[in-house]
Amino acid sequence: MRSLPPGPPSLLLPGAEGAVPARLLWAVNRFWMETENRKSRRYGGRGRHHWYALLFLMRALEVLLKLTRQYERGVRNAWDLRARDLEIPLRRLPRAFDGFTVLHLSDLHLDGMPGLEQAILERVGARQFDLCALTGDYRTELHGPIGPTMERLRPLVAGVRSRHGVLGVLGNHDDCHMVGPMEAMGIRVLVNEGVRLTRGEDALQVVGTDDVHYYFTDQAVHALEAARSLCTVALVHSPEAYDVAADLGVDLYLCGHTHAGQVCLPGGRPVIKHLSRGRRYYRGTWRHDGMVGVTNAGAGTSGVPVRFNTRGEILVLTLRCPAS
Ligand SMILES: [Fe+2]
Repeated sequence: MRSLPPGPPSLLLPGAEGAVPARLLWAVNRFWMETENRKSRRYGGRGRHHWYALLFLMRALEVLLKLTRQYERGVRNAWDLRARDLEIPLRRLPRAFDGFTVLHLSDLHLDGMPGLEQAILERVGARQFDLCALTGDYRTELHGPIGPTMERLRPLVAGVRSRHGVLGVLGNHDDCHMVGPMEAMGIRVLVNEGVRLTRGEDALQVVGTDDVHYYFTDQAVHALEAARSLCTVALVHSPEAYDVAADLGVDLYLCGHTHAGQVCLPGGRPVIKHLSRGRRYYRGTWRHDGMVGVTNAGAGTSGVPVRFNTRGEILVLTLRCPAS
């Protein structure tokens, strides 16, 4: 059996765990996983990223599409973004939050489709939202400079009109070093933590985890435990934590990652879902026990900037009390 390399060196003296901020512990572990090219999944699944094998397949797809003259059609499909409005009834939603609107954007992969940020702003227009939620994968590359992606994200964030600001989580394509620049441009990045929004006496909680596709840790589960006490919207990059979130009482689970298949067969059947768990939740609105889930098809593309038999989307969610 192949042995794993040693984990990140401990920064702590025995018994001093509480003395180091949780974010620093997270950053050390995330940086180690990124630099060692290690992924960590629930139930002990650990191994090398298979991204490069996938990249090879996508390059082969690109060649095939160009040979068959389908590439340009796929690119046009990718730019044919759809804006959709959805009403989301939630059992525990406080009355004061009835009608609360969330602009949900996911999987922007801004380095893969230059100009996508402007295309999104054109579709969102001058609409005012109560909250903007970003569920990860701001870039396509897994490694390397983050600057070009951050430069494209900045005008998008500046152009969105949101009363409670912009909350975001990291995806499996994102680098732990993005947190600082993202927060500097006004995004509150939720790294296994939550924020409480209030209207009068009522409160709604938004909890965000680090990516659970490549970088799952128990800190993600601990963050979701906050859902026991209050109506909670969870921001998680992929649907793969759907069951633990439902068990812990999360009311609404917003995610992306799958691109709804991106390249699908006629009828929308995906060739690849890119999920190890929760594969039936690869797109659209779904329910698991009492929890409502929304898997955003994403605005961008990964690998090859094409879509077939699916479209990118921008979602505007309106939260509703059950009886309204
Ligand atoms: Fe992803």
